[in-house]
Amino acid sequence: MSNYENIIVTGGCGFIGSNFVHYVVREHPGVHVTVLDKLTYAGNPKNIAGLPADRVELVVGDVCDAELLDELVPGHDAVVHYAAESHNDNSITDPEPFVRTNVYGTFRLLEACRRYDVRYHHVSTDEVYGDLALDDPARFTEETPYRPSSPYSSSKAASDMLVRAWARTYGLRATISNCSNNYGPYQHVEKFIPRQVTNILCGVRPRLYGDGLNVRDWIHTEDHSRAVWTILTRGRIGETYLVGADGERSNIDVLRAILRVMGKAKDDFDWVRDRPGHDRRYAIDPTKLRRELGWEPVHTDFESGLEQTIQWYADHEPWWRPVKAATEAKYAAQGQ
Ligand code: NAD
Ligand code: TYD
Repeated sequence: MSNYENIIVTGGCGFIGSNFVHYVVREHPGVHVTVLDKLTYAGNPKNIAGLPADRVELVVGDVCDAELLDELVPGHDAVVHYAAESHNDNSITDPEPFVRTNVYGTFRLLEACRRYDVRYHHVSTDEVYGDLALDDPARFTEETPYRPSSPYSSSKAASDMLVRAWARTYGLRATISNCSNNYGPYQHVEKFIPRQVTNILCGVRPRLYGDGLNVRDWIHTEDHSRAVWTILTRGRIGETYLVGADGERSNIDVLRAILRVMGKAKDDFDWVRDRPGHDRRYAIDPTKLRRELGWEPVHTDFESGLEQTIQWYADHEPWWRPVKAATEAKYAAQGQ
């Protein structure tokens, strides 16, 4: 049970947002979800198709649209804000939509929640903290200074700052979570794991940036969903919680695991030019979330989570095939 019966989930047709909607429908039967999603190239209504109509409603619209928010937000118990432009490589070629949706869109939602006194949870990323050296024993904590590197991470950092200001200045009932790299079903084929898996399914060699030694801290998206629900319902107002599952792995290790599971040789991939400003390593210390709220990840075996994810893409070709060629055309234009 929770105090929430009627929530808005922005970006609920994207990767992590749709997994959260599935999670809420499955685990919290008393809750109705209104998904607000613009359906950009990254949003797909099929991600939430088949969920009961009395539990989930899709409103197609933009989080930057103040009038729409004035209609939609009153009468809801909470807004969980996932909607964003989310891909670093896109932010390097065209940063404008990142500033618009991630910064201005967050501002509009904060204003709507302030006006109608609605609880707000902000979904953010560990990338706001910049990167760590490979040999640094440190991990990010809630006290780590913000030091974003890319247009994407700086736009998310700016949005986090707005949330903190609205909580302190206006007393908005807000929380923030900063999570590490997610994997699982419904992730767009532009992202690392789905790109490599679908390349192999298409008979194309995977592509590794730079020296392949960059480290990401992987978490299954279902564990992220549970963390967000935990913070939404039991987190302390005004607080930030880092979400991670001790999943540090180099890109080349992840790629070799994919190649192994899919029956390919370990060098069956191409090295391509590095991402400009490529963050070296992300790593999360999730102690606060664990100690204070008792959250623990369930998907602690990365290899088996990865195998299930690979199987999901093998089983869902009609889901990813329509966007694969356009995604690869963008990468080809960038030499990646
Ligand atoms: P995604 O790109 O898969 O989905 C984004 C969704 O937002 C899409 O459905 C899109 O249509 C929608 N959207 C975009 N602009 C919009 C707008 N102006 N108005 C309404 N809807 C809009 O992204 P994702 O990977 O699922 O990430 C979701 C959130 O989680 C983002 O805020 C991201 O910063 C954060 N996050 C992602 C990761 C990760 O590993 N992918 C890790 C930590 C945090
Ligand atoms: P990505 O999924 O874009 O997530 P993020 O940039 O938010 O960490 O990329 C994950 C890592 O994989 C990152 O270090 C860049 C690298 N990468 C490749 O090596 N090849 C690729 O084709 C892609 C898309 C990413």
